[in-house]
Amino acid sequence: MAKEENEEKVNEDSEYKDIKDLPGVGSAIASKLKSVGYMDIISLATANALEVAEVCDIGEPTAKKIIGEAREASKMNFLSGLEFQDRRRQVQRISTGSQAFDILLGGGVETQAITECYGEFGSGKSQLAFQLAVNVQLPNDKGGLEGHAIWIDTEGTFRPARIEQLAAAKNLDPREVLQNIKIGRAYSSEHQVLLVDKIPELVNKDPKIKLIVVDSMMALFRAEYVGRGTLADRQQKVNVILHNLQRLADRYNLAIYITNQVMARPDQLFGDPTAPVGGHIVGHVATYRVYLRKSKKNNRVAKLVDSPSMPEGEVMFELTAEGIKDCEEEKKK
Ligand SMILES: Nc1ncnc2c1ncn2[C@@H]1O[C@H](COP(=O)(O)OP(=O)(O)O)[C@@H](O)[C@H]1O
Ligand SMILES: [Mg+2]
Repeated sequence: MAKEENEEKVNEDSEYKDIKDLPGVGSAIASKLKSVGYMDIISLATANALEVAEVCDIGEPTAKKIIGEAREASKMNFLSGLEFQDRRRQVQRISTGSQAFDILLGGGVETQAITECYGEFGSGKSQLAFQLAVNVQLPNDKGGLEGHAIWIDTEGTFRPARIEQLAAAKNLDPREVLQNIKIGRAYSSEHQVLLVDKIPELVNKDPKIKLIVVDSMMALFRAEYVGRGTLADRQQKVNVILHNLQRLADRYNLAIYITNQVMARPDQLFGDPTAPVGGHIVGHVATYRVYLRKSKKNNRVAKLVDSPSMPEGEVMFELTAEGIKDCEEEKKK
């Protein structure tokens, strides 16, 4: 294989760019598939034949054949170490606003990864989300990606005024910054799943999208799945969302930031006091896990709990009216 050809393959899931190019599909069936959320070949590859048959008004054997073609086309090839390195080189970072916090994360919040902040109410999880949604829009030399953001709000805590305030502090046009954030308010866990399924469509329309926020990941699931009997079911649904998000992150080289509210454990004298109540439901999928806790005044402590390449550690930063900043204590270090 010629070198150029080989390199091109690294960034493509398959030789087909669109599901309509698959043998036996065509634009009529493709638009029916897209209308129910099969936006790309990979999602079609894992589709249910009965559903596809019904949606497209075709026989089940035909549906199976189409799914088979999608599977063939989307065969996730193994990458060589060099190809993998090539993909890693495309990783970009969004500044948190605090140099110390950025360093903790290896340079900021990464694309091709899921970063999770968990902590108590008021620990700053949403503030970081606001900050990232603004900072992603900054030029590269200011810690941004000149990008846009999608925000899935499950708690009704998105505040346009806070975005405007942070944008103004960065000398950005507040209205323009708001315009570049698409907000989806989820009212149920099912709705949250549907909104996540919509993301590929939004990203296809606006390739500048570089950040997806889910604030918070678990609130609706926690509220709806009470009682232990349904925990496995809940976990399975959450995992589907997280894997979809990770796939988006890889495919479109964008950053995913999710929050997870946990209760403090004042009862816990021994062991890990940062272990979230409810277990590591999100944890084992997120690439970077950060525990946030309150400190003196408006200071917050960020502790990196889990990361593929950075050592564990903690830093302090400050929540101010203008946004996340390095605090005096940290600057002295
Ligand atoms: N406009 C503001 N100016 C200064 N600090 C703010 C402002 N808005 C929020 N904060 C700080 O952020 C905290 C809330 O953090 P938040 O991210 O909403 O918590 P959570 O972790 O529950 O999402 C407040 O307690 C306050 O310290
Ligand atoms: Mg919040």
